[in-house]
Amino acid sequence: MPAISVLFVCLGNICRSPLAEAALRAEAERVGLDILVDSAGTGDWHVDCPPDPRAVRQALRHGIDISGYRGRQVSAPDFHRFTHVFALDGENLKNLRRIRPSDGTATLALLMDKVPGREGNGVTDPYYGDEAGFAQTWDDVTSAARAIIAELSSIRG
Ligand code: 4NP
Repeated sequence: MPAISVLFVCLGNICRSPLAEAALRAEAERVGLDILVDSAGTGDWHVDCPPDPRAVRQALRHGIDISGYRGRQVSAPDFHRFTHVFALDGENLKNLRRIRPSDGTATLALLMDKVPGREGNGVTDPYYGDEAGFAQTWDDVTSAARAIIAELSSIRG
């Protein structure tokens, strides 16, 4: 089990958090960092479902196949299984604070707080929008993934 494990959490686990998972996996691989990466939703509507086809297409544009990912719901034990839990927006962060057990060991933060100049921002939910929204999601989660990797690499030395 890698020392660092990261869980991304959005609402449905079919749009934003699977793209964040894919982006961080890709960045970690690029720099040779062994970390565990996963994603989940605060909602349960898409448990066991593949990502939204628009998210699958977006990842494929960057050479990453996420069609095998399956939705799952976040739960209290995740705060022991993972070292870092990132909420994709403020509403999910609020809900995660409720789900988090008082003895949870994972750090919990808003994802875009990692990106200088984007602190406090949520990643906009592209579900009810068009394909362009998914490109924006990809850009946001990729900049966050790069910031996370830079931070972890500096800790590792
Ligand atoms: P996500 O997007 O939280 O980025 O996966 C959504 C997907 C599905 C729904 C809402 C947001 N939904 O209401 O089903």
